Amino acid sequence: MIEDDVGRLIAAAGGTERDMRNALRDVGAERAVRLLAEELVHRADLEDLPHAEAVVRFACHLGERTVNHLVHVSKGSARHIADAGESDGTAPDVTVRYDTLELVRAVFGPTSARTSSTRRVEWHTTDPIGPHSEVPRTAPLVQRLLRGTAPGLDDLAELSLRFGSDKWGLHFYTPLFERHFAPMRDRPLTLLELGIGGFDDPEAGGGSLRLWRRYFHRAVICGVDIAEKTVVAGGRIRSFRGSQTDPVFLDSVVERVGPPDIVIDDASHRCADVIASFRHLFPILRPGGLYVVEDLQTSYWPRYGGSSEELSSPATSMGFLKTLADAVNHEELNGPAPDTAGEFGPHVVGVHFYHNLAVIEKGANQEGTLPPWHPARAD
Ligand SMILES: C[S@@+](CC[C@H](N)C(=O)[O-])C[C@H]1O[C@@H](n2cnc3c(N)ncnc32)[C@H](O)[C@@H]1O
Repeated sequence: MIEDDVGRLIAAAGGTERDMRNALRDVGAERAVRLLAEELVHRADLEDLPHAEAVVRFACHLGERTVNHLVHVSKGSARHIADAGESDGTAPDVTVRYDTLELVRAVFGPTSARTSSTRRVEWHTTDPIGPHSEVPRTAPLVQRLLRGTAPGLDDLAELSLRFGSDKWGLHFYTPLFERHFAPMRDRPLTLLELGIGGFDDPEAGGGSLRLWRRYFHRAVICGVDIAEKTVVAGGRIRSFRGSQTDPVFLDSVVERVGPPDIVIDDASHRCADVIASFRHLFPILRPGGLYVVEDLQTSYWPRYGGSSEELSSPATSMGFLKTLADAVNHEELNGPAPDTAGEFGPHVVGVHFYHNLAVIEKGANQEGTLPPWHPARAD
């Protein structure tokens, strides 16, 4: 897990109360509460809200102290009024009280550990939502903000469409991602995606990074693109400029964010690039991790260095990945394992092929073959 303030809070949120107190001391309680509020704003999908606005005060208790953070929230936007207490003149419409430790767990902890026993909502403006109601007008907005303390129900296809990725619609990868990623969803992890999107337009792209940020609520999401994409960075998203084929650059990214738990290759889709990235990053992937290659249709297209005739050529993405199927059984080969089977075999525990998508599972693959006395081994 990345060693920055967000990473520290995520790791501590899955630990003991003492871990959380230490993390709050290291990060600083004010900064921690701001990071938690920013995360809740991200999860609130403000653009979908019916028109409303409110100044929300988070009053987070930490022993004798109360850390206040004010956010001005309206449809589509949120302005954090940094380091503001009640004294800066901005009057909140509503105060949300939380014990700070409980809020850290509720935002960044494992789903099963989330509680809201210390949460109190105090309405200061009571303009009702309708003529026959006493519910304050700002209630839907506050509900959206607090919904972020119990995430986990979002559908990946819906998230993909909402954030503008083509992972559902042009392709139909989301049920496959769901199949492989669901067991990892509650873990603190680092996801690295090659290809942020938007090509040369520095303002465009980032759809899938936002999608992953929402889906993996305890992950740091890193993107790599050959074009400038700093505009997408923020919160738990990091972006790095460089090529998927440059080993020095890739090493510098891993040095900054730590070894990834998931790599997704959605960059150039050129066969040579796909293979080069895999060769460099798979050994760095954490054991138990997943390496995903998207858009394998290009493996059959000469423009991308592919071929529709030489289906087993290891110079094409599919030809190369197919050799990993034998790598899974590297211990069964009579004689030395050829090329990738020997190189990657001890670390490949599963290879899954789907329409235009492959998922390679990393782990220890050295359980041995049948014993020499077994009748099946007698020639
Ligand atoms: C298909 S888009 C990525 C879409 C994004 N992953 C999504 O789902 O929203 C491909 C991106 O890869 C980038 N790219 C192309 N060649 C690259 C390379 N050699 N290294 C890194 N990025 C590259 C392009 O600039 C483009 O933004």
